[in-house]
Amino acid sequence: MRTTIPTIDIHTHYVPRGWPELSQVAGGPGPWPWLRVTGERDAMLMLGETEFRPLLSNAWSADDRLEQMDADGVDIQVVSPTPLFFSYANDPEQAIKVSRIFNDLALDICEPARGRLIPFAQVPLQDTDAACRELDRCIDNGHRGVEIGNHVGDKDLDDEGIVAFLQHCADRDVPVFVHPWDMPNSPRLDRWMAQWLVSMPAETHLSILSLILGGGFDRLPHSLRICFAHGGGSFPYWVGRMDNAWHGRPDLIAKSEHPPSHYLDRFSVDSVVFREDALQLLVSTMGTEGVMLGSDYPYPLGESPSGHLIRSAGFLSEEQRRALLGGNALRFLGMEEATQPEPEALVRSAS
Ligand code: CO
Repeated sequence: MRTTIPTIDIHTHYVPRGWPELSQVAGGPGPWPWLRVTGERDAMLMLGETEFRPLLSNAWSADDRLEQMDADGVDIQVVSPTPLFFSYANDPEQAIKVSRIFNDLALDICEPARGRLIPFAQVPLQDTDAACRELDRCIDNGHRGVEIGNHVGDKDLDDEGIVAFLQHCADRDVPVFVHPWDMPNSPRLDRWMAQWLVSMPAETHLSILSLILGGGFDRLPHSLRICFAHGGGSFPYWVGRMDNAWHGRPDLIAKSEHPPSHYLDRFSVDSVVFREDALQLLVSTMGTEGVMLGSDYPYPLGESPSGHLIRSAGFLSEEQRRALLGGNALRFLGMEEATQPEPEALVRSAS
């Protein structure tokens, strides 16, 4: 039987339209994120006294999101936190409270479009036990997966506690989306959005490398489903350099059982790389199964309309295109049952 595969955007973010004053709820000096509402459909996301990012109502309104999804031909969005809310640098007790607040608000945002807006949770990753508990609470309440930041202070993803959390995700069959955040800064990186344009891809590159060379993938089961944002950052472009170093300087870097290219089937990446030649490199490096539609909606550095690059890429076969637009995401999300039998009329007209 032929089936219709939904188009799934696995990289989008939400910001609620307001939340409790975190300095009072969570305590401590901050600076905490808060929302300065500037109009019916506009707001400014603030961090303490700093203007962090202007927002439109599509950050919190299910109706606005559905309207855009229908226009873009997207059936389902995975809706993840905005990394500013992670609070990994705070006291764990504070981060637990903040995580609960945003996770519950995410359910409220997605509820009116249940089945089309799929919430991913955040967890207090600086405390492994608390992170596992919050993940369990969220999965029981309706979250489908978890978004984590790519590091916790100086701890990379191969940190024992983070690997234990990833093991818990594998045990619970929960997909993990890794998003770069908390980029290094310096006067050189404080110009032209260089933290977003240079540091973010490098952060993601470092995170994947740490899971490989730090032995994370050697310790974790193959059943772990983990995806990295922004096409895996600069990692896919430099697999050859890393393999070469693994073979050439085993005294310095060969801490993994195999060279980096051996682990390419252990994770996936999103498709928000903007150029067909970049997507082609990504598909040839990661395999067709390793790339999923992600847009970074609703933020200005994202792809709009969502899925444009995959739809227009001439090198993809129709089968590959279906995999990138939704088939791979169904497996990532554990939603293979969501494929619908095609109406007979469509099958007839297509054949
Ligand atoms: Co993003």
